[in-house]
Amino acid sequence: MIKPEGVYVRIPASTANLGPGFDTLGMALSLYAWVGMKEADQTEIRLYGNEMDGIPRDKTNLVYQVAQMVFREAGVHLPELEISMYSDIPLTRGLGSSASAIVGALYAANALIGSPLSDARLLDMATAIEDHPDNVGASLFGGLITAIWDGEHADYVRMEPHDDLEVLVVIPDFQLSTSEARKVLPDNISRKDAVYNISRSSLLVAALSQGRLDLISRAMSDRLHQPYRAELVPGMVEILERAADHGALGVALSGAGPTLLALVDRHSLRKKELESYLLNTMKAEGISASARWLVPDREGARLIGSMSTGSFMQMIEGEVKA
Ligand code: HSE
Repeated sequence: MIKPEGVYVRIPASTANLGPGFDTLGMALSLYAWVGMKEADQTEIRLYGNEMDGIPRDKTNLVYQVAQMVFREAGVHLPELEISMYSDIPLTRGLGSSASAIVGALYAANALIGSPLSDARLLDMATAIEDHPDNVGASLFGGLITAIWDGEHADYVRMEPHDDLEVLVVIPDFQLSTSEARKVLPDNISRKDAVYNISRSSLLVAALSQGRLDLISRAMSDRLHQPYRAELVPGMVEILERAADHGALGVALSGAGPTLLALVDRHSLRKKELESYLLNTMKAEGISASARWLVPDREGARLIGSMSTGSFMQMIEGEVKA
């Protein structure tokens, strides 16, 4: 049942929270990482691309460790692996790079041994590692994911993103770790703020699932995390308040930040205006940032092929954006 020829998989980036859906609402994005995995005589970890600084090349590597969790769960002994990784997803910027690595490891390891674990089980394992299901759910299933996590099991619903949705991300040139960005959050919130978020998160999910793009702007505001994280991302308060005046359907901190994400109608004639507004607002705060136009990814983690058909980089050539 082990595939001697190995596997390689593609995994999308993701945005979490989407404003009020803190730790619960995620969407996959058309920016990707690739993981190749094959049985080997001796473990070797090959890292390609610019987003790999500081990633270990021995058995402490996250992808190796997560793959071993899959093998343990499936009762398979496979201690030596050849792992190849390439990613276009910027690290610690709020675009789910660690979730994509976790999902890539789970998905590739499971595929390598004939997929004995269900996708639902992979989501539970991914969420147990990541602690919240919004990034990993989106990376695994693609599209929009709303999910709950009880500490052992995630229940989720996947929604198809509206055809007209385009996504502009503005990625600041500084990193912000999720753990740092969680430290600024209060342990308790008022009932008023809880109702504020429940109502908007519910409305946002309903609006996204019914294609009510007109409701997105008002539904995307949040009192659970964005006001506290604003101090970590210069320019964010102004952008959250004003981006809709410059052509955004809605705007939010992407995950724990520092990336800001705007949903845009792909027919909009104001895309350039919006991009300039976001970049200039950050620049005025002394933050240099880069903008990328993306679309929602609809496929999630996907088996692309086997490792026997060519070198890892040859196989993903043409797909990579860098
Ligand atoms: N929901 C998470 C947060 C996403 O906002 O902290 C980051 O991993």
